[in-house]
Amino acid sequence: MARDKTLIIGNWKMNLGVHDSSLYLHKLAKVVKIHRNVEVVIAPTILALQTLSVQVNLRQIKLAAQNFYYRDHGAYTGEVSATMLRGIVQYVLVGHSERRHVFHESDKDIRAKVQAAIRNDIRPILCVGETAGEKAADETKDVLFDQLIGGLANVTSEELEKIVIAYEPVWAIGTGKNALPPDVTFAIQAIRSQLKHLYGAKAAANIQVLYGGSVTADSAAAYLELPDVDGLLIGGASLDAHIFSGIIEKAYTIKK
Ligand code: 13P
Repeated sequence: MARDKTLIIGNWKMNLGVHDSSLYLHKLAKVVKIHRNVEVVIAPTILALQTLSVQVNLRQIKLAAQNFYYRDHGAYTGEVSATMLRGIVQYVLVGHSERRHVFHESDKDIRAKVQAAIRNDIRPILCVGETAGEKAADETKDVLFDQLIGGLANVTSEELEKIVIAYEPVWAIGTGKNALPPDVTFAIQAIRSQLKHLYGAKAAANIQVLYGGSVTADSAAAYLELPDVDGLLIGGASLDAHIFSGIIEKAYTIKK
């Protein structure tokens, strides 16, 4: 997808059960407009995806899975594959910092997941970002480069068009310490410059890059106004349908 759409994604993490997810979608659907320039995506618990996929109007709101396993079928007790998610979700999160840090997912796992998503016609949202220690050591660019190379190895330039990158500095996630807009611009320009190196200028200019990390109703506009930011990946502030829809409203008025 070209960069003419702003993506607003709510990652509910391990919050809201099936019933609450369904009620939330009902509320959100009353206020979300079908808008040419804004795409709204919610990532509920995997348990709710089936129910929500029947309830949702996909022209209005799309669905994302928070996680999955990279094999398509087999003896992997407890896992859900991208093949099983196919037709239910349009997006999947890959390489979220909580998956990297709490569940020790490696670049090898992450790249296999990117491949699995593409193979199953689901758009991967590849999350990258530095920790507080790496930022203090001035290693942000190096970390982003390593995570991009790690996650995108084996991805062709045609496949790159299906991928969304989310810049989520680890120190900003769930901490209330959101990154300053100039720091976000710096990081996203570093991401595009690395993608230019790997895939050429056109591919780098066309890829959608989002910001995530303690975005609130008050801070959202400052990011959406940045020319390099193509949308937001929102955790805590997406748990309240009223707050989340307020952020979506801002996206309607800030033209890309
Ligand atoms: P918060 O918005 O709660 O900081 O979470 C960001 C995030 O991790 C979204 O994926």
